[in-house]
Amino acid sequence: MNLIGSKTMETERLTLRSSKLGEQKRLWEILMIPEVNKWYLVGAKRHANNPNHWTWEIQEKFYNSKVDKSDNNDIFVWSVFLKPEYTNSGYEEVIGQVSAQEKGEDINICDVGWYMDPNYQGKGYATEAAKAMIDYMFKEVEINGISSGAVKYNIASCKLFEKLGFNKIGEIEKESPYTFYDGLLTFSKYVLTKEYYFNNENNRIRR
Ligand SMILES: CC(C)(COP(=O)(O)OP(=O)(O)OC[C@H]1O[C@@H](n2cnc3c(N)ncnc32)[C@H](O)[C@@H]1OP(=O)(O)O)[C@@H](O)C(=O)NCCC(=O)NCCS
Repeated sequence: MNLIGSKTMETERLTLRSSKLGEQKRLWEILMIPEVNKWYLVGAKRHANNPNHWTWEIQEKFYNSKVDKSDNNDIFVWSVFLKPEYTNSGYEEVIGQVSAQEKGEDINICDVGWYMDPNYQGKGYATEAAKAMIDYMFKEVEINGISSGAVKYNIASCKLFEKLGFNKIGEIEKESPYTFYDGLLTFSKYVLTKEYYFNNENNRIRR
């Protein structure tokens, strides 16, 4: 595994860069949208019912510490920017984030995560960004595999795993470590091994 951090990447419509302060407030705004944080939220569940905790005034310090570490060689988190020619404003806009992190049991196996601005969902941007990240993680960071999952009813995220070539290996009932949902949820478990990734490279979607 090569610890080379979150290098800037270009795709047809997107630029992926390590986290900088400039876009963090917009990313926080995106995460505060219920249809996003229903499935994805970086933060402690015990604060779910405490709106003060989620204000920018409180959150800013967490985002600052995230940015402080963003260029460390073991951090793989990218802010996803839409190139100006594809935005409504005509300026580059941050539309989401993709990330890969150590799974815990084996540092060569990563977990992955993603969220996109609902204004820009359904246009293939998460597929394009996640594919770039996965290519980078296998080809340059040289990880052995990805082991991840999504709530079974999170149709968009499950479709995304399948489009990216992941194999569904089962389901598990557990509490969500990420969302505000309180009870048991059924998660679909997905894996993408190095062997499968390289053997099927030509069959995978292009963006
Ligand atoms: C998951 C998410 C990142 C996908 O972003 P996106 O840019 O809309 O994804 P894409 O446009 O690349 O689409 C990926 C697939 O999901 C499908 N999809 C996207 N939005 C969908 C929706 N609301 N309902 C059903 N399918 C949807 C797309 O059609 C596509 O599948 P297809 O090519 O077979 O048609 C986005 O829905 C999101 O931010 N969700 C909330 C946060 C989240 O769930 N994070 C992951 C937690 S595990």
